[in-house]
Amino acid sequence: MADLIEKSKKLAAYSAVDENLKPNHKVIGIGSGSTVVYVAERVGQQSNKSELVCIPTGFQSKQLIIDNGLKLGSLEEFASIDIAFDGADEVDSQLNCIKGGGACLLQEKLVADSADNFIIVADYRKNTGILGKSWTKGVPLEVVPAAYNKILKQLTELGGKAQVRSGLPAKAGPVITDNGNFIIDCDFSQVEASKVKELNDKIKAMVGVVETGYFVGMAQKAYIGNADGTVSTLK
Ligand code: A5P
Repeated sequence: MADLIEKSKKLAAYSAVDENLKPNHKVIGIGSGSTVVYVAERVGQQSNKSELVCIPTGFQSKQLIIDNGLKLGSLEEFASIDIAFDGADEVDSQLNCIKGGGACLLQEKLVADSADNFIIVADYRKNTGILGKSWTKGVPLEVVPAAYNKILKQLTELGGKAQVRSGLPAKAGPVITDNGNFIIDCDFSQVEASKVKELNDKIKAMVGVVETGYFVGMAQKAYIGNADGTVSTLK
C-alpha cells in the first residue's frame, strides 16, 4: 500500500513536469510536501537546469531545490513565476484545493498566486471530488498569534470545529509557521465545490487571519497518480 502511494506520487509529479515545463519557463515555483519531492527531482534532471531559478514555498522546499542542484531564488526578485508545482491535501471537482497540511500555506499561496501556471500533483487519495471528504482534519488557517482566541470563537460561530495545531510531540505548544504565525485547523465537514469561495471569503474577512488553506480556482490542472499506474489530468 505505502509503496503504491509512493509510486503514484512519483508518476503524477514526473507527468506534470514532463507535460508542462516548457523551454521558455525560467522561473519555477517548487511547493512543499512529499509529492513535490519528485517534482524537484524531475526539474533537477532537465538539461537546461542551470538556466532555471526555483522559488521555494518554505524551508523544506528550499532544501529540495538545493539538494537537486537547482538555483534558489526568492519571491522578492520576481513579480511573476512562469510555472509552479505543488501538492494538495484534497482536490475537488472544480480544482479547488485544501492545502497547508504541512503548515506552509501562506508562502504556498504567494507562489501559486504569482504563477502564470499553477499545477497540482497528488496521489489518488486526494482526488475526492468534494473538499472535506477524506481530509477530515479541516482547513488549515494561518493566523496572527495574538488573534487566535478571537478567531476560534468566530470560526465556531460560523459552524466550524476549530483547534490550534499543536506541535506535540516535537514541541510543547503550537506549531509556528515559517512566518511566525499559528495554524488553526477548522473542520467544516464537506463543502460543495460551488460553496468553497463563499466560505473562504467569510474566513478571510476575520481580522487576524493571514491566509486560508482553501485554494479557490487557482490551479489550472491537477495530475493525479492512480493506483493502477495511470495518471489522470483534471482541468
Ligand atoms: C504543505 O503545507 C501542503 O500544502 C502540501 O503541499 C500538502 O500537504 C500535500 O503534501 P503531500 O504531497 O505530502 O501529500
